[in-house]
Amino acid sequence: MRETVFLNTDREMPLLGLGVYKTADNEAETAITAAVNAGYRLIDTASAYKNEESVGKAIAKCGVPRKELFITSKIWNNAQRLGDVDGAFYRSMERLKLDYLDLYLIHWPVPGCYTGTWLEMAKLLETGRVLSIGVSNFQIHHLEELKKISGIVPAVNQIECHPLCYPKELIEYCQSEGIQVQAYAPLARGAYLDNDVMCVLGTKYAHTPAQVGLRWAIQKGISVIPKSVNPDRIASNANIFDFNIEDEDMAIMDTLNEDLHTSHVPDDLKDVIF
Ligand SMILES: NC(=O)c1ccc[n+]([C@@H]2O[C@H](COP(=O)([O-])OP(=O)(O)OC[C@H]3O[C@@H](n4cnc5c(N)ncnc54)[C@H](OP(=O)(O)O)[C@@H]3O)[C@@H](O)[C@H]2O)c1
Repeated sequence: MRETVFLNTDREMPLLGLGVYKTADNEAETAITAAVNAGYRLIDTASAYKNEESVGKAIAKCGVPRKELFITSKIWNNAQRLGDVDGAFYRSMERLKLDYLDLYLIHWPVPGCYTGTWLEMAKLLETGRVLSIGVSNFQIHHLEELKKISGIVPAVNQIECHPLCYPKELIEYCQSEGIQVQAYAPLARGAYLDNDVMCVLGTKYAHTPAQVGLRWAIQKGISVIPKSVNPDRIASNANIFDFNIEDEDMAIMDTLNEDLHTSHVPDDLKDVIF
């Protein structure tokens, strides 16, 4: 099975990436070095993670040529509310010390702002400083709104997805629209690692429940960005391309869904200010 996908921008993106939410400045270099040594080529950060500077330094030192890496960052909500898309993007680039970004995402669909943000992001695309633009935490109705105002289809929708949170309808919608789904919190921050079904499947496939959970997403064509700062776990989380979950076990895993959100529920954003 391929370990990369082509986005609707014709850019190639690895299916596996390293998430760095809550990776402290003094952990970034160890984590990113371990990740590239284990074969990761995608790093997922965001201005909200407050670690773009240390992540940028670690990327510069990691020894892999820039063109072989795929770096993602995201615009945070306050910049959207201020209409400061350009400023936010260039501040991220300055902190990361990169000439270009592979993917820039709208972190959350801030009500009343996200369509305007999208139009500004489309202008950034024209500068060549970002190769693909996309969204995160968007539901079908948000994506339908984008369609009304822009011909540019998001390259990626990064959403919470793992066996305990399986938004099937949204995933199928994205796939039918040419939007690559990327799963954040693909380990549910540990919530399914001692689940009985996942443990049985782990034994059956001689992999850990974490690897089985990541593989489940990969087999659906969904990219995964597990976070770890532990070199052993980083390497283990990458070991997901050497086995295949049978259809009947994929179907069993699909039934584990309980809409468990480890982060915010996207449509609650109208009630919650963050
Ligand atoms: N767009 C968004 O709104 C959004 C929201 C949340 C996350 N994200 C992105 O998605 C990435 C991943 O999500 P996440 O960090 O929330 O959760 P996650 O990747 O599901 O889980 C990370 C947690 O699991 C632990 N862990 C990692 N590998 C493990 C393993 N093999 N066995 C046991 N424990 C393991 C990590 O601890 P150690 O570090 O100690 O290993 C950490 O506590 C983030 O880092 C971020 O890049 C995006």
